[in-house]
Amino acid sequence: MTQEELFKNLIAHAKEYGFIFPSSEIYDGLSAVYDYGQMGVELKNNIKKYWWDAMVRLNENIVGIDSAIFMHPKIWEASGHVGAFNDPLIDNKDSKKRYRADVLLEDYIAKLEEKIEKEVAKGRKKFGDSFNEEQFLATNPNVLRNRTKIDNVRERMVKALNDNDLKALRDLIVECEIACPISGTKNWTDVRQFNLMFSTQVGSVSDDAGLIYLRPETAQGIFVNYLNVQKTGRMKIPFGIAQIGKAFRNEIVARQFIFRMREFEQMEMQFFVRPGEEMKWYAMWKEKRLQWHKALGLGDGKYRFHDHEKLAHYANAACDIEFEFPFGFKELEGVHSRTNFDLSNHQKFSGKKLQYFDPETNESYVPYVIETSIGLDRCFLAVLSAAYHEEKLADGEERVVLRIPPVLAPVKVAVLPLVKKDGLPEKAREILGSLKYEFNCQYDEKDSIGKRYRRQDAIGTPYCVTIDHDTLKDNCVTIRDRDTMEQERVSVDRLKDIIEEKVSFKNILKKL
Ligand code: GAP
Repeated sequence: MTQEELFKNLIAHAKEYGFIFPSSEIYDGLSAVYDYGQMGVELKNNIKKYWWDAMVRLNENIVGIDSAIFMHPKIWEASGHVGAFNDPLIDNKDSKKRYRADVLLEDYIAKLEEKIEKEVAKGRKKFGDSFNEEQFLATNPNVLRNRTKIDNVRERMVKALNDNDLKALRDLIVECEIACPISGTKNWTDVRQFNLMFSTQVGSVSDDAGLIYLRPETAQGIFVNYLNVQKTGRMKIPFGIAQIGKAFRNEIVARQFIFRMREFEQMEMQFFVRPGEEMKWYAMWKEKRLQWHKALGLGDGKYRFHDHEKLAHYANAACDIEFEFPFGFKELEGVHSRTNFDLSNHQKFSGKKLQYFDPETNESYVPYVIETSIGLDRCFLAVLSAAYHEEKLADGEERVVLRIPPVLAPVKVAVLPLVKKDGLPEKAREILGSLKYEFNCQYDEKDSIGKRYRRQDAIGTPYCVTIDHDTLKDNCVTIRDRDTMEQERVSVDRLKDIIEEKVSFKNILKKL
């Protein structure tokens, strides 16, 4: 099965089992907007808790806030979003479809990369064990031709984006002979800049006086509150402020399920440091964030850093932590050294001093900022896509299992009476009653035990506990492990400890 087919199955599975529904589905949906169902919201809340506790609980010098989505419109002028938060767009005149110019070029580059991979696969097949990939990549004429093309297109694209040279972007698209995937023609308009912020009106005024924006990032709510938090929390530099909340962007390229949405959630942390020390903290946060991801156990090889070639208007260094999604390595989180750009500009635009007095150096200054910014929905997709497995079992049966890290699993334990009679449901409910204050549990007595196991595998429940007739005599149950499917007979008194060991936040946080 191809990755594309597997991804389609995953999307269908996410809907069938109550993880993610298309928004407004009975009205045929709303593009790039999704709702989280009864399982999805549990998984999402667990990811939030893991992030929040790792930031706010484990670090004495990081505190959290929850700022409003609506903010004074001048904030977005000061932050540069009104002027520069744009995507370069191009329309195909025949299909009337609109594309991001840089995405068309990135897709073109991806196709060339695919050609190189195919060439390598051919070489491997031809030369067998004696195949030397490094040498092949350095000498094969087809590979070298495509690699030169890739480097050239990428270099020119980055330069055009950095210089805001829209004509150069269009020329490159034309030169690469990129055709519209819908019409198949190369009949392109000019490239234009398109601002990604949603705007609306506040109050009853209908002119520009009432114009406000839906925030495109949560970070600005932190910047404008930094002195409030510093003073009321008696924070000393270096210190951080963390926040989880909704952000909105009028994305034109809306595809790949919840990877790129118009309404999404961010988990951001701004770390305020002494000017001149930012690179030290930048390096530390890169490592710390990678460690947070790896502790989930989705596979260390699924992550990589990608340093930005085109820096955002506020950054002096930036990288992405990329994850290997079913559609390839893509950005999951950004770590950015944002200088003092935001705070200095807010000082300028608001006329209020935003300086910090450093008691150690006896100096006042506008702090520099390291930001870590992860999309909650992208993290959700990373977990779900790494967890999704279609398996053929030894007895010839098939199952779909979500190997979600147990600490994040929506339901931790399912309590299942073997039959619906003989006092087993009552005993099962008694056990459920003793576990439900510790863990999110499900009770299920319908269908055969095999079918019930399959249902729990499909939502990623780490443990199933089965109550049978012997339970009434010896107070023991069968506990079944989702991943190994092994079953063990244990005393009811041990259940809490066994489950706790596997699903507790404490154990994963201790790894950090
Ligand atoms: N405050 C910095 C900032 O917003 P960003 O790289 O634009 O930086 C940070 O966004 C993270 O937010 C990304 O790494 C991604 O995980 C997530 N994100 C951005 N746009 C998104 C979208 N349209 N849909 C889902 N997640 C998105």
